[in-house]
Amino acid sequence: MGGGASRLGLPQLMAVVFILLALCGFGVHGRNHIHKRPHGGGGGRSRSGGRGGSVVSSPAVPPADEQTQPATPPPGIVPSDPAVPAQPEQCVFDVRAFGAAGDGTTDDTEAFRAAWRAACAVESAVILVPSDGTFTITTTTFAGPCKPGLVFQVDGVLMPPDGPDCWPASDNRRQWVVFSNLDGLTLRGAGTIEGNGEGWWNLPCKPHRGPNGSTLRGPCDSPTLVRFFMSRNLAVEGLRVENSPEFHFRFDGCSDVRVDGLSIRSPASSPNTDGIHVENTERVAIYNSMISNGDDCISIGTGSYDVDIQNVTCGPGHGISIGSLGVHNSQACVANVTVRNAVIRNSDNGLRIKTWQGGMGSVSGISFDTVAMENVRNCIIIDQYYCLDKRCMNQSTAVHVTDVSYANVRGSYDVRAAPIHFACSDTVPCTNITMSEVELLPFSGELVDDPFCWSAYGLQQTPTIPPIYCLQDGLPDSLLLDNPDLRCR
Ligand SMILES: *[C@@H]1O[C@H](CO)[C@@H](O)[C@H](O)[C@H]1NC(C)=O
Ligand SMILES: *[C@@H]1O[C@H](CO)[C@@H](O)[C@H](O)[C@H]1NC(C)=O
Ligand SMILES: *[C@@H]1O[C@H](CO)[C@@H](O)[C@H](O)[C@H]1NC(C)=O
Ligand SMILES: *[C@@H]1O[C@H](CO)[C@@H](O)[C@H](O)[C@H]1NC(C)=O
Ligand SMILES: *[C@@H]1O[C@H](CO)[C@@H](O)[C@H](O)[C@H]1NC(C)=O
Repeated sequence: MGGGASRLGLPQLMAVVFILLALCGFGVHGRNHIHKRPHGGGGGRSRSGGRGGSVVSSPAVPPADEQTQPATPPPGIVPSDPAVPAQPEQCVFDVRAFGAAGDGTTDDTEAFRAAWRAACAVESAVILVPSDGTFTITTTTFAGPCKPGLVFQVDGVLMPPDGPDCWPASDNRRQWVVFSNLDGLTLRGAGTIEGNGEGWWNLPCKPHRGPNGSTLRGPCDSPTLVRFFMSRNLAVEGLRVENSPEFHFRFDGCSDVRVDGLSIRSPASSPNTDGIHVENTERVAIYNSMISNGDDCISIGTGSYDVDIQNVTCGPGHGISIGSLGVHNSQACVANVTVRNAVIRNSDNGLRIKTWQGGMGSVSGISFDTVAMENVRNCIIIDQYYCLDKRCMNQSTAVHVTDVSYANVRGSYDVRAAPIHFACSDTVPCTNITMSEVELLPFSGELVDDPFCWSAYGLQQTPTIPPIYCLQDGLPDSLLLDNPDLRCR
């Protein structure tokens, strides 16, 4: 990005300046309007917690950051920047004012870029995708740095071109909308990001989508719908996001991320459509969201620390997954992940940790607390023999899995797989697995009372249903656990 103004002639530039001046006067109005969505009920939008639009405080309880900016500063305290008003107005940059058609077919990319450039330069700006339009844009990186308080508000429909045949040849096929190098961006709205993914799911290189159910070779890149890269202090709130060609959201190289009140939906048969993927990212909160798709509900990759997941409903899909980690003998580290008050239904996996043979590093400090399962295969699974083609050799190292607790995990399993499956490495066993109040019964059919359990150490605080007998006390003799390669920070 950058150097954008050079594309505009003087008349357009003056028009933009005029729009800017005109719209900033409505800032306060726009702000109020945004906040006045009806509470409770949910207005027909599907949300698990129904709290999406209400994360902004009511006027009676100003958010903490406003409390730190009293209208009259206490004596002796000098505001860091006296030019910044205590309540910054929000300037609204409606993409239509920059020439977007919003008719569902016109390519509105240039209008969005122009709106971004203008908004990025102004404090507390709102880029508005209005509710009465369907806007199509091609692969775009919205890059910072920008002035603080930027909001990207999708009230209408925002979508990419319809499938691979319509994808411009010169565009990156691995990502669509990218937010990069930003500090303090909010993506929100009452609208929809529609991924138009079907054409991508049916490419003959996708599993069993080739002729006669085959899978053809060849490059199979498909775009992540929304990617956040090298950014911090991000919020994603209240949107509906559906039919992504591949991952719906990907956070990579980010910190201090808050996702709240999202509804993510793709068909169960759509390949690789992970709901939210996190990697190399710290301090992530994912709250009050509903995710149904054809792959992991939430997937957590290497370099993820302090991930807090609460009130999330998953399914159909492949459950909440840490991994896969340690591919190609790499070092992987994931620590301090909490999943609380989750519902997982009609899913191929429930709570999964998967690592490749030959990796290094560790997965530690993982807590699954209060998870309801409904008709889930592999409700609880640690798989240290993860392998895509079933021909992987056993190796002498593995990512160490330790300090994992399962508490109050209840519900029903699909009897086609054992509901509890701990397949830990021979050389680097899983350690300190604690289980309390784990009670899983068949959704229909016969009880499967032979949980799989190999090389796993830990403690049952209460008897598990189905019973597991193989969790070993204490720690293994294996000196390999002292291997410095297993250590993370
Ligand atoms: C698909 O299978 C049918 C019946 O087995 C066969 O006649 C046909 O040639 C196959 N098509 C391809 C492209 O392999
Ligand atoms: C674990 O993560 C939570 C946020 O998810 C954070 O508040 C807490 O301080 C972290 N704990 C450790 C020991 O890092
Ligand atoms: C989870 O849902 C409960 C019940 O609706 C609510 O009280 C709580 O605040 C939610 N948690 C978060 C982190 O939003
Ligand atoms: C790898 O090790 C596991 C556990 O000891 C064993 O069940 C499996 O057969 C081994 N696989 C190969 C390919 O040697
Ligand atoms: C075992 O893991 C739990 C967290 O699940 C942790 O609180 C405890 O300190 C760990 N115990 C040991 C001996 O490391």
